[in-house]
Amino acid sequence: MTLAMASDVEAAASINPVVAVRGLAVAYDRTPVLRGVDLDLYAGETVALLGASGSGKSTLMRSLTGFAPITAGSVRVAGGEVAAMRPRELRALRAEVGQVFQQFNLIPRLSVLTNVLTGCLHRAGAFNLVGGFTREQRTRALDLLDRVGIAHKATEPARSLSGGQQQRVAIARALMQRPRVILADEPVASLDPKLADSVLGLLRDIARQDRIPVLVSLHVLPLALAHSDRIVGLRHGEVVVAAPTSQLDAAALAVVYDDEEGTDEHHD
Ligand SMILES: Nc1ncnc2c1ncn2[C@@H]1O[C@H](COP(=O)(O)OP(=O)(O)OP(=O)(O)O)[C@@H](O)[C@H]1O
Ligand SMILES: [Mg+2]
Repeated sequence: MTLAMASDVEAAASINPVVAVRGLAVAYDRTPVLRGVDLDLYAGETVALLGASGSGKSTLMRSLTGFAPITAGSVRVAGGEVAAMRPRELRALRAEVGQVFQQFNLIPRLSVLTNVLTGCLHRAGAFNLVGGFTREQRTRALDLLDRVGIAHKATEPARSLSGGQQQRVAIARALMQRPRVILADEPVASLDPKLADSVLGLLRDIARQDRIPVLVSLHVLPLALAHSDRIVGLRHGEVVVAAPTSQLDAAALAVVYDDEEGTDEHHD
């Protein structure tokens, strides 16, 4: 019976997206930044988000955690409507969203292990910081460092690691949150091509193995084509490409970077 229930849960997970965005509009000071954006993220898949600078990639990610001014549409993450969440619910949501950034955002003087452990703080709050981390949390952090291939660096200060290693620490920190979804905003923009490949490969493995969606924004087409299951392309805040990666190539993605402005926008 337990098995049947487990497979039901799995079946539901493959049918219901973890993230469902419909008709999302975001505007800063009445300037539209996202318009009519639809996006589904399913458990186990890696979705590459492409778009020229300023097209709204980071804004779309921020809207998933309630950090963007939503003016229309629906943003559902793990079943909850983000725009309707109270501060307490938003905090709970943010605890369940793992984030990875271009600049890693580690605390340089703290050890690699402690940086991973800070992934617990979303949930625990400052109170637990006083009591320190539990043995269970430390064991889990070490296991995660092992998983991302840098357990041998656990006691070293984060600042002593290479960029690729620091990004692995950041990924372990995100996993410490037991995330429902991982948002990676240009996670390899500061890495050389070989490290970029390995970090993107790691993120995709995590998506598959942990059955969570990974949304990763990228500026390099070949990386998107090599390391994603689907690609979503934004141009001037609108989705202009949304398809399985296997159906796309560089020519099909050119529309994302096609710079003809909406002329009606400039003449009304
Ligand atoms: N807090 C803000 N206040 C006002 N405008 C903003 C704010 N954040 C973003 N914008 C504007 O929204 C638009 C989209 O920005 P966003 O950062 O989402 O783009 P992006 O696709 O992530 O670009 P990049 O590739 O350079 O990171 C830009 O025109 C930007 O100036
Ligand atoms: Mg950005």
